[in-house]
Amino acid sequence: MRNNNKNKNTLIDYGERGKYNLNNKLNDLTGKEWIKFSKSWFIHRPPRRKNNELLHPAKFPETLVEEFISFFTKEGDWVLDPFMGTGSALIAAGNLKRNGVGVELSKEYFNISKERFEKANLDNKIIPILGTSENIKEIISEKELSEVRFDYVITSPPYWNQLERNSLRQKVRSDKGLSTKYSQLENDLGNEKEYDKFIERQAKIFDQVFDLTKPNGYLTIIINNVYYKGKLFPLVFDTAISLTKRGDKSWILKDEKIWLQDDKPLVALGINSAWVSNRHHQYCLIFRKEIDLSKKPKIK
Ligand SMILES: C[S@@+](CC[C@H](N)C(=O)[O-])C[C@H]1O[C@@H](n2cnc3c(N)ncnc32)[C@H](O)[C@@H]1O
Repeated sequence: MRNNNKNKNTLIDYGERGKYNLNNKLNDLTGKEWIKFSKSWFIHRPPRRKNNELLHPAKFPETLVEEFISFFTKEGDWVLDPFMGTGSALIAAGNLKRNGVGVELSKEYFNISKERFEKANLDNKIIPILGTSENIKEIISEKELSEVRFDYVITSPPYWNQLERNSLRQKVRSDKGLSTKYSQLENDLGNEKEYDKFIERQAKIFDQVFDLTKPNGYLTIIINNVYYKGKLFPLVFDTAISLTKRGDKSWILKDEKIWLQDDKPLVALGINSAWVSNRHHQYCLIFRKEIDLSKKPKIK
């Protein structure tokens, strides 16, 4: 619930959690919790994945998404994930009493997410949609969600061709008979062969997401750079740049927050020969939709 109380006595004492200010425009956190999350890096050791969650090659942990959703929304707000996968962002949204919409291309992951939502028995509106985010505006309006504008978007797109080329790490999965690609589908961004085309297709999806987001709403993209054919493709930085140069749909890049994965086992890469990193961190890019009101035509 939003509160515009401007009185001096606006602090509520939540004991151990700290003090909550009724004038807080963004979230339901106390000052102490706000400051804790504002650090530019965090270590997150997710609980082990179980059952059908293992079927997806790159699921992000609900516990991590919950931290972001708690910071960027209030109870009852709307959260969008245009690359929903197994639905982790929507489970996190539901756990926190937010509403959630997710779009996923693969029927297999879409079905897993639906099963998870049914089991979780969440009170708020949780709406999974099967389809391509390349048509996200159209498919969301077809679902009679045309009036909904999102307070916050959190997502993790395919990291270009990362799954295809990450043979050493993926070997463990393929040995267990688990899939090492998202799908064989043409619309799957992870199947785009050309790096520059991937960047443009991805940016076009976030143009549409821009229109679906409320003014001043935030977007978090969890992403990483990609090492391919002996060189690093700066996917994080190209993603950041591409989304900020989209004319009237340009996102403002506000920051990066680094997720340190200090629980991943080290693998012998390039040993005795050349530098190849054990990349044990991910980037969480934080953007905002900021509209310059001075440029809006005045209504007479
Ligand atoms: C990094 S994964 C997201 C994982 C998700 N955050 C989770 O926790 O399960 C990227 C997802 O994007 C999906 N995807 C790829 N291209 C898509 C498209 N054009 N539209 C919608 N989803 C797509 C893939 O099938 C994959 O599940």
